[in-house]
Amino acid sequence: MDKWEELKARCEACTACELSKTRTNCVFGTGNVNADVLFVGEAPGEKEDLSGIPFVGAAGKLLDKYLYAVDIDRERVYIANILKCRPPKNRDPLPAEEEACIGFLREQVKLMKPKIIICLGRISAMKLIKPDFKITKEHGMWFQKGNYLMTAVYHPAALLRDPRKKEDMLLDMQKIKAKLDELSLKL
Ligand code: URA
Repeated sequence: MDKWEELKARCEACTACELSKTRTNCVFGTGNVNADVLFVGEAPGEKEDLSGIPFVGAAGKLLDKYLYAVDIDRERVYIANILKCRPPKNRDPLPAEEEACIGFLREQVKLMKPKIIICLGRISAMKLIKPDFKITKEHGMWFQKGNYLMTAVYHPAALLRDPRKKEDMLLDMQKIKAKLDELSLKL
């Protein structure tokens, strides 16, 4: 078994927090592990829990539209979440759950070595970019953190709740695509 599969197997067997008791599936991630681009959401929802695949519900379908609009192939990037198991009724992750789970994402990043990490939403940006990240003010901005160039965009679920944010989302995604082209990143 290679290191990635080994990590996935460990994640699927994890019982570090209470969410392991209510999960149907552990949602480890999907896409191309050799990509330079990693998208990180918050936590699986119902459809993700049932399928074991991130971003396949209503928010995921909207994300797919933005990826398509800027010509980023979902299969050629990697998509994961901060939490690998679904919180009941899709509530926000608890700090203890994030702490229990973040090691898996850190190991994914270590193995993948992406060049760009794109946070999907406030929760991911606060965990990965900075704790006081303000999504309404700082979406679409670039942050260099160690070896990684990072940015955050609105969570697609936030766009479903407030369609006025869609214009900003498209602009941010266009900026991301321009950066991928500028850096000639592997896609
Ligand atoms: N929302 C997330 O943050 N991640 C998913 O996988 C699905 C919905």
